[in-house]
Amino acid sequence: MELVFATNNKHKLEELQAILGDKIILKSLKDIGCNEEIPEEQPNLEGNANQKSTYIFEKYGYSCFADDTGLEIEALNGEPGVYSARYAGEEKSSEANMGKVLNKLAKINNRKARFRTVISLIIDGDEKQFEGIVEGEIIEKRRGGSGFGYDPIFQPNGFEETFAEMNLEDKNKISHRGRAVQKLIHYLQTL
Ligand code: IMP
Repeated sequence: MELVFATNNKHKLEELQAILGDKIILKSLKDIGCNEEIPEEQPNLEGNANQKSTYIFEKYGYSCFADDTGLEIEALNGEPGVYSARYAGEEKSSEANMGKVLNKLAKINNRKARFRTVISLIIDGDEKQFEGIVEGEIIEKRRGGSGFGYDPIFQPNGFEETFAEMNLEDKNKISHRGRAVQKLIHYLQTL
């Protein structure tokens, strides 16, 4: 079976392909000639993941999957959530986004937060969704130099390091995306 992973991240695709073996052949957006930006206009992660996978299925006719991720902060009623990439503006600056979070939490004691990923898989027109969550807290000052996005201010529960202080392999074992992908792989292996 051929399955499009709605990403242009070659590394992510190769990593997943290695786990899946040769029963399922993954294709990237580039492989199918999709070079345009895929719309993400929905008010929640489930809607955005669905919009992206539906777009590929309807326009290109491939079975496929797409993911969407957000940081959900309890004291901010789940913000930035689906707006995580552009929380501080359309330039999508991680520095500015982290600054906005830290400012908003400056006088707040409840620092509980979680990352949540939703994967939408469409096979022959039928959709299934898989969710991955990692709970943690927003620390007071940025720590660590690896990773991306909000990693320097997010410390997962049970760990002394932020995501930006972990190596990628350790992060993936417990991360929102890692957990959602594990559920997806488990499902694909039953097909
Ligand atoms: P996307 O849906 O994977 O593009 O994620 C949306 C936004 O959430 C990103 O632009 C980042 O700001 C944030 N984000 C997603 N995953 C992570 C992560 O693993 N660490 C830190 N920030 C993340």
